[in-house]
Amino acid sequence: MVFTVAKLAVAAAVLNNAVSAVPLAGRQSGKYDWHDSNGGHTPIEPPTPGSGYFISYGPRPYYLLNNMTDSPLKRKLQSCENGPFEITAFSIAHRGGADLQIPEETVQSSVAGARMGAGVNECDVAFTSDLELVCRHDQCDLHTTTDIMNRPELREKCSVPFSPANDTAPASATCCTSDITLAEFKGLCSKMDGFNKSATTPEDFTKGGIPVWRTELYNTCGTVMTLAEYIDLTDSFPGYRNFTPELKTPPAAVTMPFPSENGNYTQAQFARDMVDTFLEKGISPYRVFPQSFLPDDLAAKGVNIIAPPINYLLTVTGENNETIIPSDYGYAAKAAGLDIIAWTMERSGPLTNVKASEDYYFSTFADGVKTDGQFFEILDMLAQEIGIVGAFSDWSSSVSYYGSCMGLKGTYGEKYHAAPYRQGPL
Ligand SMILES: *[C@@H]1O[C@H](CO)[C@@H](O)[C@H](O)[C@H]1NC(C)=O
Ligand SMILES: *[C@@H]1O[C@H](CO)[C@@H](O)[C@H](O)[C@H]1NC(C)=O
Ligand SMILES: *[C@@H]1O[C@H](CO)[C@@H](O)[C@H](O)[C@H]1NC(C)=O
Ligand SMILES: *[C@@H]1O[C@H](CO)[C@@H](O)[C@H](O)[C@H]1NC(C)=O
Ligand SMILES: *[C@@H]1O[C@H](CO)[C@@H](O)[C@H](O)[C@H]1NC(C)=O
Repeated sequence: MVFTVAKLAVAAAVLNNAVSAVPLAGRQSGKYDWHDSNGGHTPIEPPTPGSGYFISYGPRPYYLLNNMTDSPLKRKLQSCENGPFEITAFSIAHRGGADLQIPEETVQSSVAGARMGAGVNECDVAFTSDLELVCRHDQCDLHTTTDIMNRPELREKCSVPFSPANDTAPASATCCTSDITLAEFKGLCSKMDGFNKSATTPEDFTKGGIPVWRTELYNTCGTVMTLAEYIDLTDSFPGYRNFTPELKTPPAAVTMPFPSENGNYTQAQFARDMVDTFLEKGISPYRVFPQSFLPDDLAAKGVNIIAPPINYLLTVTGENNETIIPSDYGYAAKAAGLDIIAWTMERSGPLTNVKASEDYYFSTFADGVKTDGQFFEILDMLAQEIGIVGAFSDWSSSVSYYGSCMGLKGTYGEKYHAAPYRQGPL
């Protein structure tokens, strides 16, 4: 394959389950029956209309829509202003799907992402010192995403202890999930990602450093999750919901295989434990899209999905580089028939500022980005011209609105359900 694959998702169908898809028919409101008929699990079939659970997109999609210049796309999106609002697997909840305002990888972010219609929820999987699997974006981000620095008994266990800011260096620390036990992890509060570069005390390290366009309104002790709790939570959301766990490769600060009381923990065992957690929960493999690991013998068997960042997919052309077009990579990925999932929408703040701030996600086409009203134009180009099947988002409703309005189902349907599978654990 000629592409640099930044994230690779493989539909890991690991159980011999025969599951058939039914068409997405007959849905007409934001309501879903949350009493499924599949043994307590969210059915593989789409939700049917019912009572009890409302999808809520909130005001943000309308704000983005109202800032668009007039176009057929704007008029099409306006036609959906009053629903129907769908749960769609086109909308992938990045780290829970509400990290724009709510601490990532938490119960609260996942609940919000689900409410905003995300059909796929993400948990990045890290392990604790007692080899339990938990949701954290990185194996070593506890110092910026939790309040561990406020806990004297725990911060002393950090791989790299707190070092105060001085005239030549910012404050620093490195705290990994594998520095502490599951019980200790469960006692942490999740917080908005950021740290105070000027901190001279560990407590001050946890304050500030959050981009101003996020918010601290919900920065009030987000509930951390184990992988098992994430599975139960996501499975409990009404409607058709899938899982995308991402196995994190531990950074250099963590020796792999990781020495523990139970022996050396290898990356392969880590991967098996992740898959086994889904198997033990009885989750249909068709609903699980693991990222970032690719057992050699699975490569040719599953549905291959590549997941590049947005900046790989788009570029600019024309006078002053102001016309956004698909990149060669974008066209090539489409031509190769690969399914593409893009990341990450709603992670950059106001689009007006992305050029000046040299934002990563817009780095290849920032010359063409001026206002928030271009959000849907950019997403539309990704969806219609490149043909992405899903987009990760830090605020799920914006992507859900588009996917729902356009009738995009994401990683749903025969193609995925009928994918070749292997039997037994990976
Ligand atoms: C969109 O918002 C920008 C400010 O960010 C404003 O200058 C522009 O006129 C707005 N466009 C429309 C069509 O409302
Ligand atoms: C400043 O902090 C850095 C990093 O902790 C350290 O290496 C350096 O020695 C400190 N400098 C002074 C003058 O204390
Ligand atoms: C950052 O740390 C410095 C030094 O400890 C402190 O004076 C300052 O108030 C902290 N910033 C915030 C936002 O708390
Ligand atoms: C664990 O790994 C270390 C370092 O690689 C090695 O010395 C040790 O023998 C291993 N222990 C076991 C039980 O495999
Ligand atoms: C357009 O982008 C190209 C490639 O980055 C650059 O070389 C060129 O100077 C840009 N043109 C303008 C007018 O900004």
